Amino acid sequence: MNNINKAWLKSGYVTEEIPQGTDLIKEIQILKEKKNAILMAHYYQTGEIQDIADIIGDSLALAQKAVGVNADIILLAGVHFMGETVKILNPEKKVLVPDLNAGCSLADSCKAEDFKLFIQQHPDHKVVSYVNTSADVKALTDVVVTSTNALKVVESFPKDQNIIFGPDRNLGSYINAQTGREMLLWDGACHVHEKFSLEKILQLKNQYPDAELICHPECKKPIVIASDFVGSTAALLTYVGKSSKSTFIVATESGILHQMIKAYLDKTFIAAPPIDSTCGCNNCEYMKLNTLEKLYLTLKYEWPEVVVDPETARLARRPIDAMLALS
Ligand code: 13P
Ligand code: SF4
Repeated sequence: MNNINKAWLKSGYVTEEIPQGTDLIKEIQILKEKKNAILMAHYYQTGEIQDIADIIGDSLALAQKAVGVNADIILLAGVHFMGETVKILNPEKKVLVPDLNAGCSLADSCKAEDFKLFIQQHPDHKVVSYVNTSADVKALTDVVVTSTNALKVVESFPKDQNIIFGPDRNLGSYINAQTGREMLLWDGACHVHEKFSLEKILQLKNQYPDAELICHPECKKPIVIASDFVGSTAALLTYVGKSSKSTFIVATESGILHQMIKAYLDKTFIAAPPIDSTCGCNNCEYMKLNTLEKLYLTLKYEWPEVVVDPETARLARRPIDAMLALS
């Protein structure tokens, strides 16, 4: 193994001066071939990372495509829970993430010890957890869902089955509204999706009366109600291709706009603005911790590696497999 130094351990990523003029994209390619590694990236990554990824997708696609990947090393450009899911599905492979600080405010809003108590208080409930959770929370779960398959998975339970849904209260209440169920919701949320300003979005709608508003189900209810279409990042991407409209106000993390612009050059995409930003779009600061420099150094030193305790991984795999079987 490599010489992991104390500064790296402290910072959570490899720190090293990279000579000026280094062609990082070329160097990453060379390292990938030399080490039989592949790069998987979520749609919320920067455009330059999305463009060099071997596999790109939403949370569901990344989980599905991670099964039995033909590589010795998987480098995951996303956030930590995604790295854990890939590791759980590929226990024999080395799974690397560029920065251990790339967490998720939603996953953090649901600590396993608290969730366990909640479950114990409702013993007749099945437990459905969003993929944006730690491996420890997944280990307490009956079925995992992503935003792409949540409706389908929840509907696979009998109508009278009591269900706990965690941790996203917005996705949970969206599913409740769509299905007429009354799932018990954990009170968690994603700070990025909660920040969109309905007022600013309505101003944009006035400015572009022909535009469609599309949003991720992690957004708050007023945004969901005002939207013409609600879906996961992959569903939003598919939708803009099918719609006859040519302008879209997109209420999710701004990384997805890169794929939309690339795929539909004749259409216009406007990032929905958050309440408190001057940049006019909404970035997940965890997702955006990943950079080309960190990808290169992570592959070079094969660190940071995602480690999941084997017993936790065994318990967490069951609900992930249950989800994949239903997807
Ligand atoms: P997707 O399921 O659309 O990939 O969303 C993941 C996520 O983190 C949303 O904030
Ligand atoms: Fe987590 Fe929100 Fe970032 Fe998605 S956008 S990774 S839910 S903090």
